[in-house]
This record gives sequence, C-alpha cells and structure tokens, in this order.
Amino acid sequence: MPPVLHSTVNATETGRMPFCTSPRGFRPRLPGRCPLRATRFLPFILLPILAGTLFSACGGVSPAGARELRFLSWNPDRPEVWNGIIEEYERRSGTRIHMERAPSSSSALHDLLVQKLRNESPDIDVFFMDVIWVPEFAAAGWASPLEDVFPPTEREKFLPGTIAANTYGKVVYGIPLFVDAGMLYYRKDLLEEYGFSPPETWQEMVHQADTVVRGEAAQGNRIYGFSAQFKQYEGLLCVMQEFILSNGGAIMDPETGAPRFTDPAALEAVRYVRDECIGGAAPRGALTYEEPESMALFVQGRAVFHRNWPYVWSIAGDRTASRIAGRVGIARLPRFPGGRSCSTLGGWQLGISSFSRRRGEAARFILYLTGDEVQRRFAVETGRAPSRRALYGDRSVLAANPQFRDMKDVFLRAVPRPRTPLYPAVSNALQRYLSRVLAFPDTDIAAEAATARRRIEWIQSLLPQGEGHAVP
Ligand code: GLC
Repeated sequence: MPPVLHSTVNATETGRMPFCTSPRGFRPRLPGRCPLRATRFLPFILLPILAGTLFSACGGVSPAGARELRFLSWNPDRPEVWNGIIEEYERRSGTRIHMERAPSSSSALHDLLVQKLRNESPDIDVFFMDVIWVPEFAAAGWASPLEDVFPPTEREKFLPGTIAANTYGKVVYGIPLFVDAGMLYYRKDLLEEYGFSPPETWQEMVHQADTVVRGEAAQGNRIYGFSAQFKQYEGLLCVMQEFILSNGGAIMDPETGAPRFTDPAALEAVRYVRDECIGGAAPRGALTYEEPESMALFVQGRAVFHRNWPYVWSIAGDRTASRIAGRVGIARLPRFPGGRSCSTLGGWQLGISSFSRRRGEAARFILYLTGDEVQRRFAVETGRAPSRRALYGDRSVLAANPQFRDMKDVFLRAVPRPRTPLYPAVSNALQRYLSRVLAFPDTDIAAEAATARRRIEWIQSLLPQGEGHAVP
C-alpha cells in the first residue's frame, strides 16, 4: 500500500509541504490521567460513554430499538428535497438516518472526512466522495470495496466514465450519484438585446460581456461580465483546467503523469484568465468565490455569464430563488481559437466506511440513493445530472432539464483531473500556484509554475516507481 499524503488546511495556509504518514498511522493521544478530582462527576461521564459503546456493539440499534446509520454529506443546496428522500427511506426501512452536514465545499468536506477516517472512527457509515478522492480513499483502506454490493451487471447501467472514476486497481469503491461537468450559463435576454449568439471562444465571451456591461452602465444598471469560482480551493482547479484544456494544453499528461502545466499553452491560458477575466470581465471579488457565491451573483441578475455545474439550471429557473428565471441560457464552455470546448469531470459518489459496523444496512441505503427512482427525483427536483444512462432518455427528466438532451456528450467527454492517491497534495500545490498568479498581476507565471512543478515532482517521487500518476 503506498504512503498517503494528507493535505490539511494548515498545510495550505502555512505554505508548509504536507506531511507524509501511513494511512492508519495517526491516533489521538489519550490523556494519561483524568483532570477531574471530584469522583462524584464520574457517573455522569461514564454513563453516556457506556451507553454509546453498547449502542455501537449492538450494530447501531438504539436503546429505543430503532436502527441508525450515520451519513456524512455536504450541506445540500436543496435541503427540502434531501429531507424528503431521506424520510422516505426511514419510513420504508425503519432505519433512522443521522445526516451530518459539512460545509458545501469539496475541500472542507474532504478535510473533515479524512480526519474521521484517519482515526478509524466508527461514527460514519456512509459518506459522499468527490470523484477525485477515490484513489486516495481506496489506497488508504478507508473506503470499503463494493464488488459484492455493486456487481458488473448493475455497473453497466451507469455512464462508463463514472464507473472508471470509482474504480481503483480493478475494484469498485463507490456508487456514482451525480455527474458534473462545467457549463456556461448566460443571460439570454441580454444577449438577444445586444444582438449576440452564445460565444464560441473566450475572446468572444469577454467582448460580449464588455459590450453588455458598458451598455447597461449607460442606462444606470450595474452588472458584471462573468462570474466563476476563482478562490483557492478545489473548484479553482476545475475552472482552470477547462481554460487550459480549451487552449490545447493539460495539467498533467494523462498517460505518463508528467506535469504539463508549465507548457506554453497552459501558461498562456492562465495569463488570459488573469489579464482578461479577473479584474476585467469578472469582478476581483471572484478571487473569493466558491460555487454558491459565484452563483448568487448570477441569479441576482448581476452577471452576464456564469460558469458552474449542471444543478444551477434548476436554481436559476426557480422564481423563488432567482431574479432571472426564464431569462437564462445554457451552452458549452467557450474555447480558445484553434482549441476545443472542454469541461472538467466532477461528480459525487457514495462510499461505505471500512470502519462501519453496519455495512449491510449502509449498502441498502446507498443502493436506494443511487437507484433509478431517487436519481430521477434528484434530476427533476434539483437539476442534478444522473449517473444512470437510461435517465437521459427519461421523459420527466428531460422535461425538467431539456439541456440534458444536447449536453449528454459534454458529460461523456468531460475530462478527469489527474488520478492519483496523492491527489489532495498535488491539487494543493496547483491551487497555491494558480491562486497566487491570478491574484497578483505582477507575478511571473512561468517561474511560479516551475516552483509548483518541483513541488509536484517531489510529491510524486513518494510513490513507488510507476505509481506516481494514473492509477490502474
Ligand atoms: C463539484 C464537483 C466536484 C468538484 C467540486 C469543486 O462539486 O462535482 O467534483 O471537486 O465541485 O468545487
């Protein structure tokens, strides 16, 4: 088993290199002596601990007789839909689902989850996995193999890219629930008013944005040209990979794992984003935006163009959540002249913790969530793009999401981020580089990229020969 690098928030913020440890090497140190002298408090301390131990030992049957499962997820953007789906499961199965909700950012959920898994905590049975974590969680022994739960006959019903993303060393570790791919949202009404069709290239987008912003300003309307996720976190890498790919570049070579973000095509794309997007078409505040903030600007009617994942379609069209309902268009992401439109592959899977004491029940729950009925409901009610192939031909799914009909190839062709068990550390080094050069216009992009490259090569050298990049 390869060593696992855990990039923590501290490592990011202090600029230290992340540390290397064996996956199960860290354990919290227990205090040697109880600091409380008054023994009369002991029953109050011991009783809940004893009750908890008994609860776990009984395989999750609470004292009242109800079974319980613990599910660690991010904070859903449509909590009412999630609550309905979970309540339905509780009614049918008699199992209570305790849903712990982390912040909606992938990076924040990763750090929380890794902390618990590294401690081999039995407090989590089921968790959400970002598509980029599968190699890390599998190599560390944190995600339980799902060969028995999710056989090949079932896997065939899913988009092939989502199954590949959940497979490590020929074993499947997660069941895909949604697939994500970057999309361009635009203000249909404004583009029509100014005589534009959706832009094919980034240059056209910036030109159109600039024209609309000026025209609106002349009428006293303050609007920005473009909003996207440029904060230092995982979303930044997704966005920047799209710019780089659409200029014919790449972050890493998918075959050899060699860094390619120092190539001229990649550097040029980064320079374009810095000089023409940030502080140009996009507000400088975009340097602090994750998905929710960037979407808020768009649905409040304050941006002409917006890059985000498929679920924004449903929110932008909902009159209770959006000021621009009915005035939104969706298109493939633009490209650079001579390049081709590319979307980053994202998406979320359900995994079972290797430390769960309720694996059978956990398996029933994730099969329910990823089943046909619930995926249809998520697609219709939240605009999430299903991982099940058949739903792209489903009448109710297409009625709610007509864009899925034309966009299926965007999901099928979406490009994964580098696949490695060291992904968090690699991503961390890239995020630091990108965030720094985007935020400071006078930084030398090529020199900063070269520094990031040295860091990444060092990180890759920690894996046994040949395992530094793509995984089997
Ligand atoms: C979305 C994607 C996920 C990505 C994240 C970045 O949730 O599905 O793969 O890592 O955005 O913010």
